[in-house]
Amino acid sequence: MSTPTDPARWLEGDVALITGGGSGIGKAVALRYLAEGAKVAIIGRDQAKLDTVIAESGQPENMLGLVADVRDTDALHQAVASTVERFGKLDILVPNAGIWDFNRSVTRLSGKELSESFDELFSINVKGYLLAVEAAWPELVKSRGNVVMTLSNASFHTAGGGPVYTASKFAARGLVYQLAYELAPKVRVNGVAVGGMNTDLRGPESIGLSERSIGDSFARSTITGNNPLIPLHDSSVDPVDFTGSYVLFASRNNSSNITGQIIQADGGIGIRGFGDKAAGGDAL
Ligand SMILES: NC(=O)c1ccc[n+]([C@@H]2O[C@H](COP(=O)([O-])OP(=O)(O)OC[C@H]3O[C@@H](n4cnc5c(N)ncnc54)[C@H](O)[C@@H]3O)[C@@H](O)[C@H]2O)c1
Repeated sequence: MSTPTDPARWLEGDVALITGGGSGIGKAVALRYLAEGAKVAIIGRDQAKLDTVIAESGQPENMLGLVADVRDTDALHQAVASTVERFGKLDILVPNAGIWDFNRSVTRLSGKELSESFDELFSINVKGYLLAVEAAWPELVKSRGNVVMTLSNASFHTAGGGPVYTASKFAARGLVYQLAYELAPKVRVNGVAVGGMNTDLRGPESIGLSERSIGDSFARSTITGNNPLIPLHDSSVDPVDFTGSYVLFASRNNSSNITGQIIQADGGIGIRGFGDKAAGGDAL
């Protein structure tokens, strides 16, 4: 599966800003939005990574790379201003930049490690999302635009991370609901709770996990046992195959009456029941 070769161009003429667009699902959404007719600005901490995505897109005139840390409100305001200066407006914000805790249990962290990794991870995964919305909402009000947040299976279920990551993703789910309420009726706010994907997702620097990537240790078998769709439909863990829900929510024509909603694009983790689908143990 991949980005459709003949996309419906549901975002023709729109302008999007995506945090964490230098890799993973942020990059995949950026390229999909481009294919759907949008102009796209991507935020990341590494100019070279952003440049690579822009070169890969084949449409450098329709992309903008912005170096910013999502914990820095001034940098986010500057990124919104630069996007509007380059493309004239802002229709879609995708708060997405995040880190993971590599399932570190409360029993495997000292109090100091827990405290430091909590502050670092929450400042990116939760504060980073809220600060991005704070920087962008005036432009989104002008365009009657929308926000699509990257959530996670860990926004609904245990064991998608340790307690710090799970709490951060439940908090981000709270932001979808609260901000959908606060920004209505002019700005819609929705979320895509993606399941396990093969990306470059890193961990907190404060506990020595910033150089470790989920992609290095990604084992397909750890997903299959918990995912009803994997054996039947061969559900992919390629981020490209998670982008459709982001297009649906961002599209005015197709979602103008939808806000405060979350699509769980996770292969059916929530309905996995007691059977062993991965082993083919059913009548189908
Ligand atoms: N990979 C998975 O299995 C998975 C599952 C569920 C949810 N998610 C979520 O998807 C989102 C994107 O992660 P990904 O899996 O694509 O990983 P990724 O590391 O490939 O992408 C995240 C991007 O955010 C950037 N980033 C990190 N901290 C930043 C900061 N302080 N300021 C600016 N940019 C920063 C990174 O450099 C990276 O380019 C995250 O919110 C993550 O929690 C991932």
